[in-house]
Amino acid sequence: MTEVIRKVGVLGCGLMGSGIAQVSAMAGYPTIVKEAADEFLQKGMAAIEKSLGKFVEKGSLTAEQRAEMLARLKGTTRFEDLSDCDIVIEAITENLQVKRETYAALDETVKPEAVFASNTSSLSITELMMATKRVDRFIGLHFFNPVPLMKLVEVVGTITTSSEVLDRAMKFVASLGKVPIRTSDRSGFIVNRLLVPYLLDSIRALEEGVGTVEDIDKGMKLGCGYPMGPFTLLDYVGLETTYYIANIMFEEFREKRFAPPPLLKRLVLAGHHGRKTGRGFYDHSDPNNPKPLF
Ligand code: 3HC
Repeated sequence: MTEVIRKVGVLGCGLMGSGIAQVSAMAGYPTIVKEAADEFLQKGMAAIEKSLGKFVEKGSLTAEQRAEMLARLKGTTRFEDLSDCDIVIEAITENLQVKRETYAALDETVKPEAVFASNTSSLSITELMMATKRVDRFIGLHFFNPVPLMKLVEVVGTITTSSEVLDRAMKFVASLGKVPIRTSDRSGFIVNRLLVPYLLDSIRALEEGVGTVEDIDKGMKLGCGYPMGPFTLLDYVGLETTYYIANIMFEEFREKRFAPPPLLKRLVLAGHHGRKTGRGFYDHSDPNNPKPLF
């Protein structure tokens, strides 16, 4: 734990928010996670319990440690319950307007000295920050999926973030057992700036008949030692998420490497979003044995 951060608030208990709340509670922070409704909260909490259970199964946590971690974690549906947090990490839906409205409400409720952090993967931190009055205490903290396992967090400063707040954020991330890297407020930061064109290029290669889904995946997995091939990763991250991020990055840079290929758009329009909908570049009817569709 760091001295200045004693209590952590997390906004959103979906895939990313639940992971962030989990690693915060695992690192010893009293953590409170807010969702819009009880049903979403319960779903997120169940995911956390399941993930902690996996660590117990593997022997990296005892059942007692798991119980202590869960005891540090509280759920709420009220903004007011975040008022005394030292840092609030937002991981709600990737919608600029919704996020800005949420930040404006949060700014009224949470103590003025608290730091606000967004887990956005592509929206401008500066644009989110301007919905609040805390322009020196607003940062990006970009975690990776699956949060409990992925070691990296991108720490994003804006032109007004104070260096003291950035140093504090670096220490906080390290205290979570993660590795922080510093980057600036440019759409996609470091990782998605490089990852997204690679994923989009894999789809272009498929469209041009360079290889099948299975062979392109095998190529990058076995030829480069990547843990997942690009199509497995696309289905894992979600095609609609990738499409959304690519569009924002294309808007920002106007470079064709960020332009979503037609096949990605068609799959998203058809509701084939990858693992979460059961179909994407693979058919996931049997989760242990995905079948390539192209
Ligand atoms: N919590 C706890 N434990 C978990 C877990 C979870 N959520 N998920 C998996 N595990 C455990 C499993 O039980 C398993 O344990 P074991 O080795 O003792 O059996 C272990 O972790 C490994 O899991 P799997 O066997 O299911 O799978 P892998 O060995 O393939 O590892 C992976 C899974 C870590 C996800 C690996 O495949 C990987 O690193 N993939 C790449 C992920 C990636 O690139 N993520 C970034 C996405 S981009 C992003 O997030 C940015 C955003 O802005 C889009």
